[in-house]
Amino acid sequence: MTGSSLRKYVAWIAVALLPAAASAQLEHATVASPGNILQIEVTVDAEHRPQYTITRRGQQIIAPSRLGFLFTNGLRLERNIVIASKSERRSDTTWEQPWGERRYVRNHYNELEVRLSETNGARRNIDVVFRVYDDGVGFRYEFPDQPALHEVGIAEELTEFAVAPRATAWWIPAGEWNRYEYLYSKTPLAEVGQAHTPMTIRTDDGLHIAFHEAALVDFSSMWLRRVDGQRLKAQLAPSSSGPKVARTAPFVTPWRTLQIADTAGGLVMSDLILNLNEPNALGDVSWVEPYKYIGIWWAMHLDLATWGSGPRHGATTRNTMRYIDFAAKHGFRGVLVEGWNVGWDGDWFANGDDFSFTQPYPDFDLVRLTAYAKRKGVRLIGHHETSGNIANYEAQLPAALDLYARLGVDSVKTGYVADAGGIKTKNARGETRYEWHDGQVMSRHHLKVVTEAAKRKIAVNTHEPIKDTGLRRTYPNWVSREGARGMEYNAWGVPPNPPEHEANLVFTRMLAGPMDFTPGVLSLTGKGGRPIESTIAKQLALYVVIYSPIQMAADLPENYERYPRPFQFIKDVPTDWADTQVLNGEIGDFVTIVRKDRRSDDWYLGSITDEEARTLEVTLDFLDPARTYTAQIYRDGDDADWRTRPHSIAIESRRVRRGDVLTLKLAPGGGQAIRFTSPAGRGTRLLALR
Ligand code: NOJ
Ligand code: CA
Repeated sequence: MTGSSLRKYVAWIAVALLPAAASAQLEHATVASPGNILQIEVTVDAEHRPQYTITRRGQQIIAPSRLGFLFTNGLRLERNIVIASKSERRSDTTWEQPWGERRYVRNHYNELEVRLSETNGARRNIDVVFRVYDDGVGFRYEFPDQPALHEVGIAEELTEFAVAPRATAWWIPAGEWNRYEYLYSKTPLAEVGQAHTPMTIRTDDGLHIAFHEAALVDFSSMWLRRVDGQRLKAQLAPSSSGPKVARTAPFVTPWRTLQIADTAGGLVMSDLILNLNEPNALGDVSWVEPYKYIGIWWAMHLDLATWGSGPRHGATTRNTMRYIDFAAKHGFRGVLVEGWNVGWDGDWFANGDDFSFTQPYPDFDLVRLTAYAKRKGVRLIGHHETSGNIANYEAQLPAALDLYARLGVDSVKTGYVADAGGIKTKNARGETRYEWHDGQVMSRHHLKVVTEAAKRKIAVNTHEPIKDTGLRRTYPNWVSREGARGMEYNAWGVPPNPPEHEANLVFTRMLAGPMDFTPGVLSLTGKGGRPIESTIAKQLALYVVIYSPIQMAADLPENYERYPRPFQFIKDVPTDWADTQVLNGEIGDFVTIVRKDRRSDDWYLGSITDEEARTLEVTLDFLDPARTYTAQIYRDGDDADWRTRPHSIAIESRRVRRGDVLTLKLAPGGGQAIRFTSPAGRGTRLLALR
């Protein structure tokens, strides 16, 4: 057996199991990552409060930080604790993604499980499991069932992250009126208030750490509240019902994660979040297809058409046919149609009572259109805007999904437009209650939608979602989501997305998982002709830089007809990858990513900058040495600048080989996109057939 094939078959190896005798206890428990880069130590302090420490290459990264909980019945698990036992395991496996940034993912970690036991009172036990990778740490609490801890109401999670080295943070506020659609702030870590995760920091000596969580199932999201100095505390999103989380033991919490890398790009390369999620629970998911799509969407955001009925109604049969024809002509699989169903005419924002998910507007012939699309090799993409009213939505969910399944609509975009905390639901007594978009109720709701959709072979793309915590591994039909400021802010946002926005997203929000950012607005104009702060080449680069297995070509069809040459890149670029590498990047400044097509030998490069012009040198070490490639280059024109000449683009070809050095010149607000295609590659053959 070779090393790598062996790796596949190595499962759990129990290394040590050290149960303490009845009254015995361990002073501490430690574990190191496979390459001995990170070390964890669990101890109890002088007051017998449990704590953990993280050290990297001998340097303390996380100073002693608390572990524990407060419960709504007044009990607490945080003092009078001893480490009663510990066990260690090693694991090194490789698994295959059905779709993703890379096909094979190595999952290589050492695990430490400690049992924390109370020395007085009810003598309850809780386990903490640490998985330590060379590029990060995940830990979670496991609640064994026991008489004194069966029905569990969590009032507070006490987990802390006391960051030792001085650091700068990139973050968005949590617990405010919006959900996640904020511009990123860059501040000293010691000035963070309450932040969503992923939150990324860079220490003064250049180490990068991203805080997040993995496998957020039937639990409330973790916000990070700065307590003092650089000490952060887990702050669970609230709930209307008292406990922030109500569960019955046994259960496990989500993993609290830290991705840790020398470079910003190292964070993007980390598979920690996916690795900490459970394997695919859906079985055969070959029906989940990555794709590109267009939609009756941007016209509404530009206010050229309406979601609601009337003379400017966007979702008419005729208009939809026009989009289907355009999709068929240019090779897009999907056509999203918003505003097709009854309910948009009143004050739909944060209301949702009126939405029907089965009744189309009279000028939208759903049955005819799905048949028409099918004849043209195109699929309609369903749309369920709930306005955050999950009571109304859940009541209709089976019928709504059955309708789509019957008509061959195999993906649906959902939406939860309502201010944060404005999710309308009903409690067990049928009383209306309001919840947070990222509380336990919504973590349950989303998995209900995703699993109900999976039963009908429907993929889900959630807007105004709960944050991504890698659940796509377990439920591969949860293909994408929003959860940050997307392109729509360039239509009407005040301010619009600034040039640094996407270079912030890559190293923060995107660490969580795919985003339906909806790039490709080649007109570079929002509502009323206001400028988008980007060059045209950057719009193309975003298809490589911002990962999603479904990517929209967001602009109006007529705008694509005005820019056929750059549009060619959008038509060519795939959305499913065999491999991904980050060639360079700094948070909020610039980034260059290359990805290999999963279905051909082609590679694609996307490079973006903020408001500053940059010259970046990249070595084409990723190319196959046995091939020569044609680089189809879409670069900022020599005079390009997002303020003055955003449309200036140069499109050229050259022959390249592995090891060649390319100089990427990015204009202010600019970018560059390259397709590397090899004569023997299938991608090229397809091009030749066109
Ligand atoms: C907000 C979503 O992000 C956007 O894509 C959608 O068009 C509107 N809600 C209406 O559902
Ligand atoms: Ca949105």
